[in-house]
Amino acid sequence: MGEIDLNQKLDELKQIKNSFEQDLAACSSPKELEQVRIKYLSKKGLLQSQFSLLGKLPPEDRPAIGRELNTLRTSFQQALKSRAEELEQLERQKEKIDVTLPGYVPFIGRLHPITQTLEEIKDIFSEMGFSIEEGPEVETDYYNFEALNIPPDHPAREMHDTFYLDNRLLLRTHTSPVQIRVMEKREPPIRMIAPGRCYRKDTPDASHSPFFHQVEGLCVDTDVSFADLKGIIAIFAKKMFGEDVKIRFRPSYFPFTEPSAECDMTCIICKGEGCKTCKNSGWLEISGAGMVDPEVFRYVGYDPEKYSGYAFGMGVERIAMLKYGINDIRYFFDNDLRFLEQF
Ligand code: FA5
Ligand code: MG
Repeated sequence: MGEIDLNQKLDELKQIKNSFEQDLAACSSPKELEQVRIKYLSKKGLLQSQFSLLGKLPPEDRPAIGRELNTLRTSFQQALKSRAEELEQLERQKEKIDVTLPGYVPFIGRLHPITQTLEEIKDIFSEMGFSIEEGPEVETDYYNFEALNIPPDHPAREMHDTFYLDNRLLLRTHTSPVQIRVMEKREPPIRMIAPGRCYRKDTPDASHSPFFHQVEGLCVDTDVSFADLKGIIAIFAKKMFGEDVKIRFRPSYFPFTEPSAECDMTCIICKGEGCKTCKNSGWLEISGAGMVDPEVFRYVGYDPEKYSGYAFGMGVERIAMLKYGINDIRYFFDNDLRFLEQF
């Protein structure tokens, strides 16, 4: 052995190094990387096995080759390690930019359909010059009944199946008590609406819920007539449902209005043909209404000879049902997202 053998050996090692580098670059997974490690660095691997051949070299060449082998082994180990890190990084990037994954749709909250309907009703009446008033949901017997001309033994109390909290306090059964509260505080002219929650022990069905909303309306001035009432309800209905909507007034009775009427709208669920929502009548009652009874004016200290007024109380759920074509009031309160997300 001599110069030539030493150079041949170094060439051989160079080739091992080249092929190692190629193999390493071709790796695309930790598994393949392990194969490369075994191929070169295991006991019988291409590089490792060179150590056992050292003894067959001329003694003067051994130190140089030995040094070279050690250097190569260290650099192979380092190369394997950094390639492993590279592959891991690539793996993570792949996860991040997988464009084939279905998109993630963020959850966006929305207003409840009843809230949306209330907002619309408020807008329509605000535009016509009505103020927006509020009253308490826990009411006294006086405001909910007595001042509305419904004394303790009056049969009209039976129409309002009431949740009593004690023998004086109750959950208001309608928004009409807000009329009294506003009239007590202010002198005419009054043009107001009062939206809010109401409670009745009504058995739930397609058009009744024990918890519902009303919008009260009240207009008091010196020359207010029933024609004004019909006009305002008709304008409201057209703004809410479009020009083609049909409304009708039926004579009715409320202790706090005289004359009294109930206002119906064509049931748009069945287009007037009759269905379970309108109880086969083709019409859906949306509002009670009438001319303020002089007796009520006396309770709040207005002069009935001087002032006249109209009032109405409409059911917000009924209006929302007509607006959105919903055939059962109970959907509003089930809190089923599949329903709520449609609005
Ligand atoms: C009243 O509550 C009167 N205060 C309305 C009124 C006001 C008349 C001012 C005259 C002057 P009534 O009980 O009919 O009336 O209810 C009015 C509306 O509330 C009904 O037309 C209906 O749309 C709605 N409503 C009543 N009870 C329920 C219920 N359990 N579930 C859903 N909506 C209801
Ligand atoms: Mg009624």
